[in-house]
Amino acid sequence: MEDKDVYKGLAGVPADYTAISTVNTASNSLLYRGYPVPELAASRSFEAVAYLLWHGELPDARQFAEFKALERSQRSLDPIVKRVIDDLPLTAHPMDVLRTAVSVIGALDPAAADPSVESNLSKSITLLAKLPAIVAYDQRRRRHQDLVEPRDDLGYSANFLSMAFGEVPSDVVVDAFNVSMILYAEHSFNASTFTARVVTSTLSDLYSAVVAGIGALKGPLHGGANEAVMHLFDEIGTADNADAWLERALADKRKIMGFGHRVYKNGDSRVPTMKKALDTLIVEYDRPDMAELYDALNEAMQSRKAIKPNLDYPSGPAYHLIGFDTEMFTPLFVASRLTGWTAHIMEQLASNSLIRPLSVYNGVDERHLDG
Ligand code: COA
Repeated sequence: MEDKDVYKGLAGVPADYTAISTVNTASNSLLYRGYPVPELAASRSFEAVAYLLWHGELPDARQFAEFKALERSQRSLDPIVKRVIDDLPLTAHPMDVLRTAVSVIGALDPAAADPSVESNLSKSITLLAKLPAIVAYDQRRRRHQDLVEPRDDLGYSANFLSMAFGEVPSDVVVDAFNVSMILYAEHSFNASTFTARVVTSTLSDLYSAVVAGIGALKGPLHGGANEAVMHLFDEIGTADNADAWLERALADKRKIMGFGHRVYKNGDSRVPTMKKALDTLIVEYDRPDMAELYDALNEAMQSRKAIKPNLDYPSGPAYHLIGFDTEMFTPLFVASRLTGWTAHIMEQLASNSLIRPLSVYNGVDERHLDG
């Protein structure tokens, strides 16, 4: 086989069909089950989008009431999960804590190996309900604060923020957070979703696939970019430093986090929606300096490299303004992307084929041991 037959990074290689979402590169739009994501973000809750991704249709009133009741009833952490988190050192990154906690939830579930759609849907709802408690609790223990119990009178986003901060913030903040959860939920065959599909294709269980997805999402070229954006903002400091900072960073051949995308080459379709949400937070928290820094780095990047921002660019500063510690940003992404991963796990199982590509050997020729 010639080198030209190797597709490094599988770039441009269609690996399977999916009916869950698509990026229409021509119109630069992302559709979940056919619906444009900005339309969903403008009028639906994250719970409704989770239902849509899993079932293919938005819920009617009765279905939604049942779904929400089921999610709300499972929000508490099992004492064993809490104990495992308590035992992990604070030097462990929150993504490692989350990965470990999901693994424990899986090990505690006697139905973990049941591959039926009913069982996998039920596990997906359980994880949807519990991930916020894990993320919120981990941030609180790092701040030497006690766990805040979930409230079943609140929607997903309001409850998440209540558990993280001990109070429900304003509607502006809850809405911006809800928008971010919807935007992060699903994005076809991205690295972590593909990882989850690879694990599923071996007929391993849903928890193992989710744990593997968390591992893939952690990397700074993928989900870790939202944290990395905030580190860049801290490094740059103020808007007037942005251009000189970027010149140095590019001269040092650094990748500028929050810019560029494997699929979108004309700009990430999710950015305008998240930027609008970020703008509401900037007003809410009276932080025009954040808007100035955001614009200055983006303008410098456009004039020097013409590489457009991706979703992590506005979501990093949004999570910062809401009050999350920077290292919690990628776990927030997990809480959302769980819905896409699990939709793909169920889709993979419905028409499975073991994912096992070929490699082209370029090592030493065959040789033999002496004697
Ligand atoms: N900063 C600086 N240069 C970048 C860049 C960035 N964020 N993104 C791409 N480029 C440059 C590459 O260096 C490359 O330049 P070259 O042709 O001179 O070598 C060119 O643009 C093409 O980039 P490439 O890395 O081949 O694109 P890709 O499709 O493989 O990569 C990403 C996509 C996302 C991995 C890449 O844009 C990146 O690393 N971005 C930063 C991390 C990030 O924000 N990730 C979140 C993605 S949602």
